[in-house]
Amino acid sequence: MKKIGVLTSGGDAPGMNAAIRSVVRKAIYHGIEVYGIKYGYQGLIDGDIEKMELGSVGDIIQRGGTKLYSARCEEFKTEEGQLKGIEQMKKHGIEGLIAIGGDGTFMGAKKITEKGYPCIGVPGTIDNDIPGTDFTIGFDTALNTIIDAIDKIRDTATSHERTFIIEVMGRDAGDLALWAGLADGAESIIIPEFDDDFEDIIDRLKRGHDRGKKHSIIIVAEGVGSAVDLGQKIDEAAGLESRVTVLGHTQRGGSPSAADRVLASRLGAYAVDLLLNGQAGRMVGIQQNKLVDHDIVEILNSKHEIDFDMYRLSKELSI
Ligand code: F6P
Repeated sequence: MKKIGVLTSGGDAPGMNAAIRSVVRKAIYHGIEVYGIKYGYQGLIDGDIEKMELGSVGDIIQRGGTKLYSARCEEFKTEEGQLKGIEQMKKHGIEGLIAIGGDGTFMGAKKITEKGYPCIGVPGTIDNDIPGTDFTIGFDTALNTIIDAIDKIRDTATSHERTFIIEVMGRDAGDLALWAGLADGAESIIIPEFDDDFEDIIDRLKRGHDRGKKHSIIIVAEGVGSAVDLGQKIDEAAGLESRVTVLGHTQRGGSPSAADRVLASRLGAYAVDLLLNGQAGRMVGIQQNKLVDHDIVEILNSKHEIDFDMYRLSKELSI
């Protein structure tokens, strides 16, 4: 293998730049040419491809977002779109591809691999919703962004003795909400993986109130539904005048944490190793701090599991 491509696709995540840098530098270290494909699979279809050099990835390890831009591409879900992408790979002499993103990205990587062009997936999403890896690139930074926001909200919640309901991202996964809730001592954490009893949320609020605690933080994962609707329900049931904050896309930006930079550097380099060792259709990950790789089809067919022990602990600590 003499030429490989790299792209980022789906929602961006802090640390994607560090992963791109790692792929480019590791490949060049092994004498391989690297081509950056812009705007994910859309750029592959359109031929928005350029050669990357050592200097192309200088000064990006600390930057959020992705230097290669990102997109969600409907056309690449079709056979026609995939064949257009393969044509571009042929035209540029690209023999293998590293795709950084979430499950949509891996679906594209699977399709290209099936058409004879080896792909390796690197998990990059703030949601931490990918099976086969303990952490995805971007999760730690997003979590710290959330913690920073909640700490600030807590100040005003205390001053005004208010209940705040804070909605965090995560798509269908509750990891960001659970970790943030545990890290910030939230009174309730509401995530899609468990059917929370509404009465239990109200009881917790009332119990806290009875022992003189007049402010509360409730964290809701976006996968459960709207925090605004939940806030109204809580106000009616508990006789409160709560405030709702939807953190939104602030969670996707910012300089990656040290943990994300290191994770991205390790995963990107490992993906290059796999391609050079003749592997195809794999996803790299980290489990118990060891680099691992899995069949990408298996990953696409399995479901990320939330850590039940952590969820139970969060309940125990917020009695
Ligand atoms: O997958 C990352 C993510 O930020 C999710 O947490 C969220 O549901 C979604 O992307 C938002 O997507 P968009 O940026 O397209 O609105």
